[in-house]
Amino acid sequence: MCIIFPMQTYLFPALKYSAVAAALLFMNACLPDQNDDPDSSDPDPKTSEPGAENAATADFGKTKAGESTEIYTLKNKNGLIAKVATYGATLVELHIPDKEGNFVDVLNGFDDVSGYEDDDNQYFGSTTGRVCNRIAKGEFSLDGKEYTLATNNDPNHLHGGGDKALSKQVWKAVPASDAQAVTFSLTSPDGEEGYPGNLSMKVTYTLGDDNELRIDYEATTDKATPVNLTNHAYFNLGGAGSGTVLDHELTLNADNYTPTDDTLIPTGKIEPVEGTPLDFRKAHTIGDRVPDKGASKTDDCKTAPKGYDHNFVLNGKAGEQRLAARLKDPKSGRVMEIYTDQPGIQFYSGNFLKGQTGKGGKTYPFRGAVCLETQHFPDGVNHDNFPNTILKPGETYKTSTVHKFSTE
Ligand code: GAL
Repeated sequence: MCIIFPMQTYLFPALKYSAVAAALLFMNACLPDQNDDPDSSDPDPKTSEPGAENAATADFGKTKAGESTEIYTLKNKNGLIAKVATYGATLVELHIPDKEGNFVDVLNGFDDVSGYEDDDNQYFGSTTGRVCNRIAKGEFSLDGKEYTLATNNDPNHLHGGGDKALSKQVWKAVPASDAQAVTFSLTSPDGEEGYPGNLSMKVTYTLGDDNELRIDYEATTDKATPVNLTNHAYFNLGGAGSGTVLDHELTLNADNYTPTDDTLIPTGKIEPVEGTPLDFRKAHTIGDRVPDKGASKTDDCKTAPKGYDHNFVLNGKAGEQRLAARLKDPKSGRVMEIYTDQPGIQFYSGNFLKGQTGKGGKTYPFRGAVCLETQHFPDGVNHDNFPNTILKPGETYKTSTVHKFSTE
């Protein structure tokens, strides 16, 4: 029987994601719960088909430390392409059509691993953790013991810390038996980046024929430890490097958000978005109300003076998949909907992008992309009133987020 991490339920659709089921079954032979799940014991005809091809793999370069990295290409029957790399279990490319059927890569990123190791990389497309977002002053206590983490975002801990943050490690890849899914795995040893427990993780990317890119996360530990995993993709639905996202229309399924101090640490309050520039319950362009367009007088945006950088409390029940966000580029007609079982989403409007050069020589300007990071609330480990982020031995952390692409 699978022990589910509180607040989260792993929803495993029956046949649609059977390629992932097969990959996870292969990877997780030791998981005690696999036979409890009727879906996971269902053999997948596609994966057992002789001659089925794995995702194509290519060299992604050597890290500074001399480790080899690879990139895998996922394709669906409609021509969508996603590329994922072993470095940081990173989503590197995502090619989706506009309303005329023209494909473009909508993600910020770099051509090879050297770009991802450079300071210009602001977690582009990476798997972030062990605890994504911020932990105040890099400190927390658990079971009577004090832990100190790197304060790599002075004065706070950000996205898992220093050189051994998940986004900076080379993960092991196992492609599914078709070209539509890859599972990355990594074990972070006890004490790495200051976190307790040997934490074993799997992240599976699946590109479905329904134009959904699904990311499934799983983790187990041998000591109680905080866990909060997300993907840090930067989207520009007009094409990465095509200008700002100020004209993108955003809807967020959130009545409330978590206000912060000046260092982006939540005060612990949960406040309504109503009457603030953070009210995206109906679609607004991102540029409508960013601070330098007259909305800076509210307390809500003072904490993120250069634009949006806030955690929204998603409506509906955490642990159940529901719509979190909808992003539309009116020019191209590209639409992305995000579904998740997580309690929160960080909406970050690319305020620290600085015109760095990325894939194919493209530049990524200030507010040139948007991140919509599904997650537990920032600094959750220090706030008893926020959803629990502690994973205990014997439990399995499971969560999934789906990005669904369409046009209108
Ligand atoms: C976001 C965070 C921002 C910034 C960014 C990385 O997740 O909310 O404040 O740190 O990552 O540059």
